[in-house]
Amino acid sequence: MKLFVANWKMHMTRPEARAYAEALSEILGDGAPRRELVLAPPYTALEAARDLKGRWSLAGQNVAAEARGAFTGEVSAAMLSDAGCRYVIVGHSERRRIFGEGEETLAKKLARVREAGLVPIYCVGETGEERAAGQTSKILARQTATLAADSSDSPLVVAYEPVWAIGTGVAATPRDAGEARARLAELLSARRSPRVLYGGSVTPENAEELLEVSRVDGFLIGRASLNARSFAAIAGLSSLDGYPAGV
Ligand code: PGA
Repeated sequence: MKLFVANWKMHMTRPEARAYAEALSEILGDGAPRRELVLAPPYTALEAARDLKGRWSLAGQNVAAEARGAFTGEVSAAMLSDAGCRYVIVGHSERRRIFGEGEETLAKKLARVREAGLVPIYCVGETGEERAAGQTSKILARQTATLAADSSDSPLVVAYEPVWAIGTGVAATPRDAGEARARLAELLSARRSPRVLYGGSVTPENAEELLEVSRVDGFLIGRASLNARSFAAIAGLSSLDGYPAGV
């Protein structure tokens, strides 16, 4: 089943998250959705974003590299599990770039995620400069090497998110996303059925073609996931009729 993950980043108070959950609930109705949906709210809105009917699951946007202890401000994998999460985003480019998280830290985070029985959504992707220098393939190899110690039998989601496409309005072409997907499939060939997502300026307008042509297993969506209708439209679960373009 295709997987669609809404990465809310640092958006949504609890009332906003509740309103979003209600809107999404109304769009989906009571049947089991044909697509797997995941919301990744800020920690404070996890409870408000939860679906008691189980039509979508929850993801943490980040997790501590340590299991417990004197780490002011950190949230552990066990706490995320306890808060109802099933997935955790690890190594988002904003964590790598703005907060300086390197491969060593990310390997520790991946280990904590597994100990808590959660599934990582591990993000990889090259910068614009690296792309221009023809290094995409090398960067993907280096970033996926961080998964070396991760059990190859455990379910894994890898999100290809080229840094130059995140929040810029310039998505990768379906062909580029497809090439990265194929490269990741090769790099992860020892693993049992990893799922590869694409992320970076996905919108209701470009989603269908990206999905079909690149043959990714779904999307990690930032800005266009902040509206329930737009998120559902990207997942192919709602029409865009009467919906303003470019939202
Ligand atoms: P975007 O973000 O959809 O706003 O480009 C994607 C992401 O950062 O996961």
